[in-house]
Amino acid sequence: MSFNNLDTLYRQVIMDHYKNPRNKGTIDGDAITVEMNNPSCGDRIEVYLSVKDGIVEDVKFDGEGCSISLASASMMTQAIKGKKLTEALKMSEVFSEMMLGKDVDAGEIDLDDIEALHGVSKFPARINCATLAWKALEKSAKEENV
Ligand code: FES
Repeated sequence: MSFNNLDTLYRQVIMDHYKNPRNKGTIDGDAITVEMNNPSCGDRIEVYLSVKDGIVEDVKFDGEGCSISLASASMMTQAIKGKKLTEALKMSEVFSEMMLGKDVDAGEIDLDDIEALHGVSKFPARINCATLAWKALEKSAKEENV
């Protein structure tokens, strides 16, 4: 596949998550809720995290933001649901490195759709958009004492 075709495919994956977000909504009950703001635009995303025995039982997101931030939140929830919270945090670490433009070695981790966001690293102003939900995840995990 040529680079242009790959870029087009990545764009389609991002727009699909934006238009058909996975796990959008809230979790009632005793889920951890964390809201993060992007200081550069004022947009905000809330992440709801429900963890049992170290496993992400459920995760949802809500809020307002651009296509990159909402697509990234959708991808994050899709990727971590059902995984160990420690694995989700490792994924977050790998994603941060990807946003810094580093060649990431994801090892055993399957980045799946998240790979489509790697091009964002070339646009520094958008990195905060892409990492917003991931930062909320990290903050939630701290509240869970991981
Ligand atoms: Fe506000 Fe992207 S422009 S989150």
